Amino acid sequence: MCRIGTDIERQLTVAIGESLDERPAREPSVMNGELLFRSTCTRCHGMQGRGDGPVARAGQLKPPPADLTDSTLLAGTTPLDLYRKISFGVPGTKMRSFGEALSREERWDAIAYGAVTDALGDVRPGMTAADRHHIHAPLLEAGLSKVEVRMLARRLALRVWDKPQSACLASRIPHGSEVTVEKLKQVERGEAVLREKLGLRVVRLRHEGVKARIEVAPSDVARLLRPEEKEAVLAIVQDLGFAELEIDPRGYRRADPLPQED
Ligand code: HEC
Repeated sequence: MCRIGTDIERQLTVAIGESLDERPAREPSVMNGELLFRSTCTRCHGMQGRGDGPVARAGQLKPPPADLTDSTLLAGTTPLDLYRKISFGVPGTKMRSFGEALSREERWDAIAYGAVTDALGDVRPGMTAADRHHIHAPLLEAGLSKVEVRMLARRLALRVWDKPQSACLASRIPHGSEVTVEKLKQVERGEAVLREKLGLRVVRLRHEGVKARIEVAPSDVARLLRPEEKEAVLAIVQDLGFAELEIDPRGYRRADPLPQED
């Protein structure tokens, strides 16, 4: 940058009390942005950025928080525009300045997260439900990342510090169907028995009403499809109260993030 530019920048900085050097100093982190967004912005903007957080639902914000998933609203808005709105706030609204609460890097992280609109638009029924019932996620609200939680757990000598992460059992139940204790018990018990009796390391029992759909590591699929093994699996799931069995020929995949269409 030329000298005059630098001088003007410095003078403006002094005048408005805010650095005009707006470039992120490092590559923005989407993950960090997600944590920040969850702990700082969802009160107003909602878990998915739709402008429907608990504060907004109380109906006292005029104008209401922006729906950050609304592409019409944000059409033509550049990342720098967003950065400025977050840094200085929107005068006359409850969108305050986050120029002090968040470092420059953190503000860019939040934008990087928003830019991954998939992440905001993601169907996360568990998160939505927790949000609706004002469930707190203290570690998340404290802005701790998963890695930091592990490091703290190790420092505190907790045995679980390096336990492999595992998805909540409710992920075995298709979106849109009721999650009951009964169903969760069937899943938990079923997976334990299958692991033990058939020596499976990776196994998911997807609860599809009367049908149990089993996913195992791709390398185990062929073995499980052999008639005698399949018989054994069928016996196990029938024992749990299922009428039908499907062994998924594709093997284990993460739970489908989109709602099931009938
Ligand atoms: C106290 C409630 C509240 C909090 C907390 C809050 N916002 Fe806002 N935000 C608002 C309101 C209200 C508006 C709407 C302003 C308007 O109508 O122009 C807004 C607008 C915005 C906009 C402008 C969208 C546009 O029209 O261009 C962005 C971007 C934004 N917020 C991001 C964030 C981020 C990121 C955070 C967390 C760091 C955050 N907000 C935290 C209330 C809030």
